Amino acid sequence: EITMNDLLSQENKRDPHTFFAHLRSTEPIFYVEEMNSWVLTTYEDALLLLKDPRFTKDNRKVAQGGDGGMRTLLQVDPPDHTRLRSLVSKAFTPRMIEQLRPRIQQITSELLDAVEERGSMDLITDFAYLLPITVISEMLGIPATDRLKFRAWTQAIVNQQEEETSLEAFFSYIRALLEEKRVHPGDDLTSRLVQVEENGDQLNEIELVSMIFILIVAGHETTVNLLGNGTLALLQHPDQLQLLRDDPSLIPTAVEELLRYTAPVSLSDERWANEDLELHGKLIRKGQIVVASLISANADSHQFHNGDALDITRRENQHLAFGKGIHFCLGAPLARLEGQIAFSTLIQRLPNLRLASEAEDLMWTRNPMLRGLRSLPVTF
Ligand code: HEM
Repeated sequence: EITMNDLLSQENKRDPHTFFAHLRSTEPIFYVEEMNSWVLTTYEDALLLLKDPRFTKDNRKVAQGGDGGMRTLLQVDPPDHTRLRSLVSKAFTPRMIEQLRPRIQQITSELLDAVEERGSMDLITDFAYLLPITVISEMLGIPATDRLKFRAWTQAIVNQQEEETSLEAFFSYIRALLEEKRVHPGDDLTSRLVQVEENGDQLNEIELVSMIFILIVAGHETTVNLLGNGTLALLQHPDQLQLLRDDPSLIPTAVEELLRYTAPVSLSDERWANEDLELHGKLIRKGQIVVASLISANADSHQFHNGDALDITRRENQHLAFGKGIHFCLGAPLARLEGQIAFSTLIQRLPNLRLASEAEDLMWTRNPMLRGLRSLPVTF
């Protein structure tokens, strides 16, 4: 029997590939009581969950009441999903995001300027955390002085401690931000969404607050984890790091491989079965919650040659780190660009980058969905 503790243990966070390789061959689908949810581990089943309309994202369809007062993109099916996504999709196309390149490069360089003299840093706090929060805050028109507040709130949410108070604080912050943008609109995404809400029936108040919330949260700890996990993976595979140093044109495939191999979002968001269905001899009942282990799917040898190995030159790489289907990560072009700029700048600027602690001593966050380090001490 697999428990929540198995999914959260430091050992399995550190080495998820060994844990899941065993499960894929012995128990490809299992039920975790504490999560009230089925977990799927193979690539094929993960694809099924992410794409098959027999699973719904809208729990109002299968349960009574109780939606926590939120209505994000990740909590609705079409047509609501199509309507909400179309309001933000243009801001996140690869072409629009490419225009941010010089600014993202500048932020990245300034973060490294600030630590260069010290010769050491916590890569999470001093670098990985600050890059994505600065970029998304600028897109949303959030004042620089407010950004540091988010860390305490999102960390509490990620570590599942004092979640309620942090969510409340976060929501009241967002409501105040929306009021400010109503009175003093700026040239930012928040102001445009406030306009959309005011102008008609495309976006209601709850959807507006939820949208700003998910744009801050979804693009934040996730990208932090890509930068942290990715740097750790490169430092633990010196041959791969050297390959990348020798040939910087490998950066795009390297980022895809780091996404696949380290799966910053290791468990998909939850879906509900719309009807009874059977999988590997197990009966999933209508109304039950089902999630997919993306890190397990991403290592499945039926889909990936040497799936347990890090290979930054991998060309065939249909990984599921950003999900699949209609809920495919909206921010993927942004996360990719941030990853490419961050890794290439790190290895250029810090030729002597080293781990400053034993990999066994690094602490992982206690969250079943996200795989990320609490801190990553490095020297250079
Ligand atoms: C959805 C991963 C960065 C915004 C998703 C999903 C995954 C994911 C796996 C789908 C979840 C599911 O279907 O169950 C990641 C990873 C990131 C990242 C690994 C960084 C490395 C970002 C960024 C943003 C963002 C930078 C925006 C600023 C969203 C949104 C959705 C989403 C809005 C919901 C899309 C929808 O339901 O249509 N992400 N994400 N993500 N992501 Fe990301």
